[in-house]
Amino acid sequence: MAFSREGFTADVVAGFVRRTFLNRNVIIILALSQAVSYINGYPLTAFPVFRFVHLFPLRALNIWILLGIYTHVTSYLNDQFANNWTKDTYKWNKEIVLITGGASGIGAALTSLLLKRNPSTKIVIIDHSPLTFKPPPGSAVYYYQGDLSNSSIIRQLCERIRNEVGHPTVLVNNAGLVRGTTVMEGSYADVEITIKTNLIAPFLLTKEFLPDMVRRNHGHIVSMGSMSAVTPPARIADYAATKAGLIALTEALQLELKYIHNAPKVRQSILLPFFIKTPLIKGEVGKPNFLYPLLHVDTVAETLADILYSGRGRTVYLPGFPMAFVHKLRVLPEWLFRLAREESMKFGIDFTGRQKLDEKTGGLS
Ligand SMILES: *[C@@H]1O[C@H](CO)[C@@H](O)[C@H](O)[C@H]1NC(C)=O
Ligand SMILES: *[C@@H]1O[C@H](CO)[C@@H](O)[C@H](O)[C@H]1NC(C)=O
Repeated sequence: MAFSREGFTADVVAGFVRRTFLNRNVIIILALSQAVSYINGYPLTAFPVFRFVHLFPLRALNIWILLGIYTHVTSYLNDQFANNWTKDTYKWNKEIVLITGGASGIGAALTSLLLKRNPSTKIVIIDHSPLTFKPPPGSAVYYYQGDLSNSSIIRQLCERIRNEVGHPTVLVNNAGLVRGTTVMEGSYADVEITIKTNLIAPFLLTKEFLPDMVRRNHGHIVSMGSMSAVTPPARIADYAATKAGLIALTEALQLELKYIHNAPKVRQSILLPFFIKTPLIKGEVGKPNFLYPLLHVDTVAETLADILYSGRGRTVYLPGFPMAFVHKLRVLPEWLFRLAREESMKFGIDFTGRQKLDEKTGGLS
């Protein structure tokens, strides 16, 4: 059982269970032999291979098989419905990947992973801060400096990118900022810059680059969501609202792509991670690392690279367990889900923003 960068976590155990007990071939063999034994009247354990099954009561065995079937059928249907039952291939020599906030952190790690997989992929980075890394010699990394909270800058940059590099076929809406104040104490500028950078910019960038993706019926838009969209913590209401907004954008756009633009191969994915060790946050979760590990930047970047290379749209929770499960808690009676949300008050995380705002314009200084 390999440990993750985050150490020994519940997700590591869940992954182990999925690969072993719930492995597709294991489930198929168990289910078939159960079926045969029902039909022929032989107990399963008449086959020597299945002697180990004696260890489990019959009911437990049936639950195990049902759980396995449920897991595989659900993940198959999730995948097919998210991708309109259609396949598409990506030629990574030709794709143009636009990564916002790619100068450092997750975006920079993703850039380096993509270049490692294919050194000729064109990568366009938009960031307010300068590049913190040196692109490998011969690579096609294009850097554009710009404040994504300013829509006229977005308009100009998109025009330049189309002229100087080409139409991006992959858009990774990664850039985001957090101010970390209560609703009452935050300034106008705090709220505005958060919503403009985290939500309006992804809307405008999608708007700019979608027409070409639709025309070619090929493309992938990936958004960096957050578990805070599901269980919004105090002091980051604006941030959480932008992340919930990205979920709405993804869901509505899926219907538009399928039914209005007739471009079912344009993919969309959204990542819903727990807190990540980035300059965005300081402090500790203050909860058992087993369930609530603070994620490593490289874990998130690797997940993004895997999503892009799969060419399949999907929703990904990080860590998969328990975050996918936390989202399902919404089916609980409201009072219970309210109680579950209060957990975040026990986190020791400090969200105080690192960006300095220009007092006059309210933009990034
Ligand atoms: C947005 O960018 C434009 C063009 O660069 C500039 O004139 C304007 O002052 C900027 N607005 C803000 C709020 O910074
Ligand atoms: C895929 O999407 C198109 C709309 O673009 C729709 O007509 C078609 O039925 C979908 N295919 C499946 C198998 O759902």
